[in-house]
Amino acid sequence: MRILLIGDIFGEYGRKAIENNLPKLIQEHGINFVVANGENIAHGKGITFKYYQWLLEQHVNVVTLGNHSFSNRTIVEHMDEAKNLIRPLNYGLGTPGKGYVTINYNGKKITVFQVMGRTFDNNSLDCPFRAAEKVLNEVKSDLYICDFHGEATSEKIAFGLYFDGKIDIIVGTHTHVQTNDARVLRNGTMYMTDLGMTGPLEGVIGVEPEDIFHRLLTGMPVKHTPMTKGKIQFCGLLVEINETTHKVTKYDIINIVE
Ligand SMILES: [Fe+2]
Ligand SMILES: [Fe+2]
Repeated sequence: MRILLIGDIFGEYGRKAIENNLPKLIQEHGINFVVANGENIAHGKGITFKYYQWLLEQHVNVVTLGNHSFSNRTIVEHMDEAKNLIRPLNYGLGTPGKGYVTINYNGKKITVFQVMGRTFDNNSLDCPFRAAEKVLNEVKSDLYICDFHGEATSEKIAFGLYFDGKIDIIVGTHTHVQTNDARVLRNGTMYMTDLGMTGPLEGVIGVEPEDIFHRLLTGMPVKHTPMTKGKIQFCGLLVEINETTHKVTKYDIINIVE
């Protein structure tokens, strides 16, 4: 089967990148299952229920979030209703929503979950390693896919190596910059440190450069205007997995600029 993982979809340009590329990719590559990070889909910060539903209409199967899970607070009341929307598992007890979802596909159970890193930020989170271990022990599944949302490349690589052979696909999100390190690890896990961003190419990780220049040069707080000029990029990873052996047979980094 062919699985497409899509990096952080950012604002209007991110949605355009999905419209322009996703149907074509699904058709050309015979993609069976799509996981997309939607933490920036609503004006660069957070997600609305309407955009979650829109992603399902674009044939996305599971939507993951991140540190911006609740940046658009309207989503809080829809977290239970949005069956295929997940936020990091390792948020503290009492956080709305869930950290994993199991989907039946072609007689197989696919469990998609998300954890968030703690290096540089997010000190109030539970341990992502122990949170992942708990899901692997408690949720029996044929395939496991994990979105590791985090800033530090080292933490993501350590997570990949620690769960090599236990999680079928581990891909990073959050930095909005695609890494060139996709590889199959020694025990069979498909690993990539960051999928990159699906959205405006010419901003500062999605934002109008002028806003960021002002903050960096003066230290003043600024509002982050999503960039809606220039080139648009679509970033992700396409993975082909043998349905019987669960071995990765092929993979391609997707980086489309238009
Ligand atoms: Fe993030
Ligand atoms: Fe993001």
